[in-house]
Amino acid sequence: MPQETTPSHGEIHCPVLLEEILAHLLPRDNGIYVDGTMGLGGHTAAILDRCSPNGRVIAFEWDARAIVLAQKKLATYGDRVQIVRRNFAEIKQGLTDLGIPAIDGLILDLGLSSLHLDEKTVSGTGRGFSFRGGEPLDMRMDNRMPRTAADLVNNAAAEELADIFFYYGEERQARRIAAGIVTAREQEKIETTEQLAAIASGAVPKRFHPKKIHAATKVFQALRIATNHELENLEAILRDAPPLLNPGARFCAISFHSLEDRMIKWGFRNNPTMQELSKKPVIPTMQECQKNPRARSAKLRSAIKL
Ligand SMILES: C[S@@+](CC[C@H](N)C(=O)[O-])C[C@H]1O[C@@H](n2cnc3c(N)ncnc32)[C@H](O)[C@@H]1O
Repeated sequence: MPQETTPSHGEIHCPVLLEEILAHLLPRDNGIYVDGTMGLGGHTAAILDRCSPNGRVIAFEWDARAIVLAQKKLATYGDRVQIVRRNFAEIKQGLTDLGIPAIDGLILDLGLSSLHLDEKTVSGTGRGFSFRGGEPLDMRMDNRMPRTAADLVNNAAAEELADIFFYYGEERQARRIAAGIVTAREQEKIETTEQLAAIASGAVPKRFHPKKIHAATKVFQALRIATNHELENLEAILRDAPPLLNPGARFCAISFHSLEDRMIKWGFRNNPTMQELSKKPVIPTMQECQKNPRARSAKLRSAIKL
C-alpha cells in the first residue's frame, strides 16, 4: 500500500477563489453561515475567521473521509462550527433539525475535493474519480449511496448510458461509447477505471479523439455526475435555500463545468427574491491558476436575498 508522504491534505489543499468568495459573502460577527460543501474545511475556516468572535458555520459534507480530516482542522473553532453529514440538497430539513430557521449566507464549492483526486496516492484506496491508476469504479462521494458507477456501467441500458454521456459529459461520441461498453460487458464485468478508460477510447475512432484531453475524460465526468445525482442536488438547493436566507444574505456558488454554471445562473435569475451581484461570473486570477491548476475552470456566481 502506498505510504502517506508529505504533506498532509490540510497543508496541500488550497481553497479556490477564497478572497473573492469572502468579498461576496461578507461574513460578520454573530452571523450564521452554511458551507454546503465543507470538503477539507478551507472555506469554512476562512469564514469562521471573518465572522469571529461569535459567528457560526453549519458545514454540510456527505463524505465520511473528508469529515475526519476537516474535524481535525476545524477543532480550534469549538462549537462555532457544526459539521452535518448530510446531502446539501436536504438543507431545509438539516437546518430545521438544528433549530435554525434562517441563515445569513450560504456558499457552495462544487468541484471534487483534492482528497477525491489524490486519495489513491495518499491512502492507497481510490474510488475511481481519476483514471490515472487502476482503481475500482465506485465514484460515490457518499458511500451510503446504493449505486456505484460500476453498477451503472454494468447494468444500465445502452440508451441510458448514451444519454448520461451526452447530457452530463457533453460527449459527442456518446452512442458509440455506450455501444462499446455494452459489447465489452458481455465478455467481462467492467470493474476498474483502467478497463473503462480503455473501452471508452477504443470505441471511438482515433480521428475523433479530443486533442487536449484523454478520450475518456467526459465519460468519467458524466458518470460521476450521474452516480452522485449532482445536478438534482444542485437543483434542490437552488430551489430550497433562498427562502432560508435572511434579507441581505448572500448565496455564493463556485462551479467547475458549464452545466452547473448554467443552472446556477438561471436559478438566480429566475428567482424573484434573489438579485445577482453581477451578470458575469468571477473567475480566478492568472496567479491563482498558476499556483493551483484545479482552479482553472472555476466560476463564482453570487446573489443577494431581497
Ligand atoms: C471542492 S470540495 C470543497 C472544498 C472546500 N471548499 C474546502 O475548502 O476544503 C467539494 C466537497 O463537497 C462535497 N459534496 C459534493 N456534493 C455534496 C452534496 N450534495 N452534499 C454534501 N456534500 C457534498 C464533496 O464530498 C467534497 O468534499
